[in-house]
Amino acid sequence: TPSLGQLRNRETVSVGVSLTGADKGNIVFIKEGSVDPVADCREFDESLAAEEVVVVDGSGEAAFFFPGFVDTHIHASQYPNAGIFGNSTLLNWLETYTFPLEAALEHAEVAREVYEAVVRRTLANGTTTAAYFATIDAESTKLLARICSSRNQRALVGKVCMDQNSPDYYRETTEACLQNCRRVLSFLDQELKDPKIQPILTPRFAPSCSRELLLKLGQLSQDEGHLHIQTHLCETNEEISWVKSLFPECETYTHVYERFNLLTRKTVLAHCVHLTDDEARLIKAAESGVSHCPTSNSSLTSGECKVRWLLDQGIKVGLGTDVSGGFTCNMLAVARQAHLVSRHLAMREQNQKLRDHWKLSVPEVLFLATLGGAQALDMDEKIGSFEVGKQFDAQLINLKSPGSNVDIFAWQRPTLHINHANNRVRLPPGTTNEDLIAKWFFNGDDRNVSGVWVAGNPCHST
Ligand code: GUN
Ligand code: FE
Repeated sequence: TPSLGQLRNRETVSVGVSLTGADKGNIVFIKEGSVDPVADCREFDESLAAEEVVVVDGSGEAAFFFPGFVDTHIHASQYPNAGIFGNSTLLNWLETYTFPLEAALEHAEVAREVYEAVVRRTLANGTTTAAYFATIDAESTKLLARICSSRNQRALVGKVCMDQNSPDYYRETTEACLQNCRRVLSFLDQELKDPKIQPILTPRFAPSCSRELLLKLGQLSQDEGHLHIQTHLCETNEEISWVKSLFPECETYTHVYERFNLLTRKTVLAHCVHLTDDEARLIKAAESGVSHCPTSNSSLTSGECKVRWLLDQGIKVGLGTDVSGGFTCNMLAVARQAHLVSRHLAMREQNQKLRDHWKLSVPEVLFLATLGGAQALDMDEKIGSFEVGKQFDAQLINLKSPGSNVDIFAWQRPTLHINHANNRVRLPPGTTNEDLIAKWFFNGDDRNVSGVWVAGNPCHST
């Protein structure tokens, strides 16, 4: 999905990935046709010994490499609550389900169990990059970073910042919060030193943060040479009213982040369901990204994000599972929900001529799940699609893997020229590759993910 709506199908190519040196993890060549791997790799590094060339054969009847999914918004700490939300809406969900769970992760053994599980599960579902919210606890945030690093997942890891409007048992003072942020930053920079794992400043959302905290976080991002930033924005109407009352000096919710220099091209804003035109303009001008979280927005009855409206304005959009506002860490399921929500917006459109415009196609939502997400995180120079010079972050999809939920009939295969030997049987025409992708999209799941690579390194296989 090299651009919005485009499916680029390269049927018989060989992809060369460097596993050492300055371009480690990068795609160094994409060649037409099958090859002699050793000879081809030696064109790029003549000192290469034959046994240093690793060959992964992704060819097969119904198999293909697809770019790894980019989950632009996931609360690793909330994974045990996936599916547990009842009839709650955002603000009572936070108090009832979320804060008690996040607070429990200050215990290292609880945090380890949860973080190991969520990293394993997201990788098994083809997520090669995730922008994670951890908790307010610095030590367990470091643990999450360690686990991502050792399991070979690319991640932005954020210690959650909140110094107000949360229970006594789950809040820091402004000073402690900033100090702990700096501790996490120096751990990543001085100790872990894994280029796959980057910090992301994480003011939870405006209501959780004092003006002083927001101000200092904006300064910290600039002082450290423009750090990634993630937060929530305009998820529900109730939340928006609350922000208006907390920050009466700001014209809109989005202006709160702008005022404190938190709206940058490295900022990703989760939800953005109820933006005004002015707010969309601010986001566009700042080149911030939007994380569309449709399973969460439907589950918590937050609303429907007008993705087409954002895309039409040139705003960068990716997809987020938002576990556990969202019930699944499977990005394919989230992409399906994005597809359906766009159709709900279409059904609401009174003007017949504009109806179809709201609909997001399968290739479009797959773009949002990959390169769109990379753009929203300002990481598209490195990841999101298969291009020479980008990292090889990939999933090998096998539509015929054991237990697969995707059934493909022999006569549906695009390459098969059907010989109608029995001319009493009239068969429909064979499917296209795009049809096969659609079958995967609607009926596929983790059983079809037979391998996952980040920076050329295997991190999951079945
Ligand atoms: N707004 C503030 N915190 C949260 C959270 O944990 N999840 C979601 N979906 N929205 C939030
Ligand atoms: Fe969230």
